[in-house]
Amino acid sequence: MMAKTSLGKLCATDHCRDAVTEMEWLDEQFELLRKKAPDLPMPAWDGLRGSMPDWAQIHQMYDRPEGTLPPAKADYANWMPKDMVVGSAAGTGALLTAGVITAKKAAESDSKIGKLCGAALLAGAAGCGAFSVYSFIARKAFSYEGERKLSKQIIDGIAEYVTIPDGGTGLDVGCGSGALTIACAKRNPNAKMIGMDHWGPEYRDFSKAVCERNAEAEGVTNVSFEQGNAVKLDYPDESFDAVTSNYVYHNIVGLDKKILLLETLRVLKKGGTFAIHDLMERSRYGNMQKFVEKLKAEGYEEVYLIDTTDKFFKSPREAKWLMLGGSTLLVGKK
Ligand SMILES: C[S@@+](CC[C@H](N)C(=O)[O-])C[C@H]1O[C@@H](n2cnc3c(N)ncnc32)[C@H](O)[C@@H]1O
Repeated sequence: MMAKTSLGKLCATDHCRDAVTEMEWLDEQFELLRKKAPDLPMPAWDGLRGSMPDWAQIHQMYDRPEGTLPPAKADYANWMPKDMVVGSAAGTGALLTAGVITAKKAAESDSKIGKLCGAALLAGAAGCGAFSVYSFIARKAFSYEGERKLSKQIIDGIAEYVTIPDGGTGLDVGCGSGALTIACAKRNPNAKMIGMDHWGPEYRDFSKAVCERNAEAEGVTNVSFEQGNAVKLDYPDESFDAVTSNYVYHNIVGLDKKILLLETLRVLKKGGTFAIHDLMERSRYGNMQKFVEKLKAEGYEEVYLIDTTDKFFKSPREAKWLMLGGSTLLVGKK
C-alpha cells in the first residue's frame, strides 16, 4: 500500500505474510549487486544468509495455503508403534483360537501330532500375549500425552548434554519424529541442528514431514531434516560441533555397535561434544569400558559412561520392565 501523508510518503506492506517472498527478492537483488560490484563487502547479509537454509527449504517450512494455520501442537508419535500393540493383540487372539480348536480336535481324535500342534499354538499365544501386554504398558509409559511421559524425560535428559557453540551445527542421528533434534535446537538457539534418519518401514509414524511439522508447531526454525543412513553417514569427517543420538543403534542388527559409534564420532569436530544414548549391554555392545579407554588413548578430552536406568527412569527395575535395561549414555568431548 502506498499513501501520501502530511509526514511524507508512506509505504506499508503485509510483511509477515510475504516475509519469505520479500527476503528471497532481497537476496536476488543483493546477488545482482554483487555481480555488478564484486568487491563491495556485504558482511551482515553474508552472515545472515550463511546461517539460513536454502530457499526451497524455507518455502517448504513457511508456505501454506491461504487461510490455513500452523499445526497447533507437536506430535512426536510413540517409540512403540500402535500397529505393534494392535497386531500383537490380534495375533494373540488368533493363536489362542487356533490352539484351542486344534487341541480340542486332537483330544477327540486322540491324535499325538494334533496335541503337539495345539500345545505349540497355545505356547505361541502365551508368548504373543505377554508381548502384547508389554507393548501396551510401554506405549502408555512412552506417550507424550500420558502421565509418565518417559520419552520426553529421556529426550530432555540427553539434550542437557548437547552444547553447541554459537553459529555451530549439531547432528542428531536417527531423529525419528525430531524430538531430540528440536530439544537440542531449543537449548542452543544460536546454533543449528540437523536431524537425519532413514525413516524406514519399521517406524511408520516417523517421517521427514512429521519432523518438519513438529519443528513448525514448536516454533523452532534453527533445524532441518535430511534422509540418510547411520551406518554410513553422508557427511565429511569432523563436520559437526556436536553429535547426539537416542535408541537408534540397537535397531541396526548384524553390525558391530562400536563401529556404528565410531561412524557417528567420525563426523564430530575435535573439541565437539557427544551424547549418545542406547541399550549398551555387553551382549549388544561388548566391553564399553574398553571402548572408553580406547577413545581416551586416541586423544578424546573427556569420555564418560552414564547408567541412565536410575537417572531417566524411576528405577533400574522400571527400565528392565520396559526392556530398556541397558540404557546408557556415552558422553564427552572429542
Ligand atoms: C526408537 S526410534 C528413536 C527415534 C528418536 N531418536 C527419538 O529418540 O525419538 C529409532 C529410530 O532409529 C532410526 N533408524 C534405525 N536404523 C537407522 C539407520 N540405519 N539409519 C538412520 N536411522 C535409523 C529409525 O528410523 C527410528 O526413527
